[in-house]
Amino acid sequence: MKKVLSLLLAVVMMFSLVACGGGEGGETSDVTTYKVGVAIYQFDDNFMTNYRNELVDYFKTKETDTVKYEVTLVDGKNDMATQTDQIRNFITQGMDIIICNLVQTSSADAIIDEVVAAEIPLVLINREPLAYDADKKPIVEGYAGILDNPTVCYVGADARQSGTYQGEIVLELPDKGDIDGDGVIRYVMVVGDPENIDAQFRTEFSVKALVDAGMEVECLVEQIGNWATDQGQTITANAITAHGDKIDVVFCNNDGMALGAKAAIDAAGLKVGEDLYLLGVDALPEAIELIKEGGMTGTVLNDHIAQSHAAVDAAVDVLAGGEMQNYYWANYAKVDKAYVDAQ
Ligand code: GAL
Repeated sequence: MKKVLSLLLAVVMMFSLVACGGGEGGETSDVTTYKVGVAIYQFDDNFMTNYRNELVDYFKTKETDTVKYEVTLVDGKNDMATQTDQIRNFITQGMDIIICNLVQTSSADAIIDEVVAAEIPLVLINREPLAYDADKKPIVEGYAGILDNPTVCYVGADARQSGTYQGEIVLELPDKGDIDGDGVIRYVMVVGDPENIDAQFRTEFSVKALVDAGMEVECLVEQIGNWATDQGQTITANAITAHGDKIDVVFCNNDGMALGAKAAIDAAGLKVGEDLYLLGVDALPEAIELIKEGGMTGTVLNDHIAQSHAAVDAAVDVLAGGEMQNYYWANYAKVDKAYVDAQ
């Protein structure tokens, strides 16, 4: 009898728990839905496509029975005026948090001011707004608009590291990148976009690694490809026409442009690893495939998983009443043939 009673009691308790839904004081608890506005600088960007897909997927994994995230994604179409409008719409729509991949980092203050004034936490991703030292050199980590605001943070990776890694992959080759053995590494630099610190630092630090190792270098071509495959192809095709087999290395600030460079190299009948070397950044699956078959020399992992997760974690924490750090960093990693074969 005792057993039957306690079973009954357990059943009654279970029902009352279900009725409460985990809420307090016997009320039917509400589901809290947070509105998340995500502004991407441009949907038509290979790396940021993988990044934003992971961001959305990872938000889903953070949902519980009582907490949901309603994510609204918008495409800035690489136009700052469009993105400013989108951020203003997010504010009027009452977003609980905004995640922004700025079109132009020079507009960071304007965006930060508006979002902070609306008392909405802001997570900046991928394009770091920078402070500059007395010599006008960019300072990573230390932007006043971020440091002065406890509800603003930046999630990214230090692009100097990715440039250095590109250079190091070249230095680890048996001929250290001097594929024609004439004592000079002659290179083509396909630049992302000049306003972007990732492009500036990758351009500078890839070559710096070679020079610091005592190599003689000569820049044959340095041109802006706006992170885009078709522009990487045109720049490389023109460089091959102008300089032919003088080129030892084609450095691309990202894999998107390196894929274009590879198409131009193929079209000219040249071979990566025999006639020249080809480097990118991001470690897109397409680039990893090429490295496996020798069609690209190497790339640098730009960890969109770590970065998107850090952005979501920061957002989730702050929405739950926690505090943000001002900066969250992910590491890059070298990806060459040995690395890919070992995976
Ligand atoms: C870089 C990435 C590029 C491009 C760019 C956009 O970090 O390597 O492929 O996505 O961001 O800002």
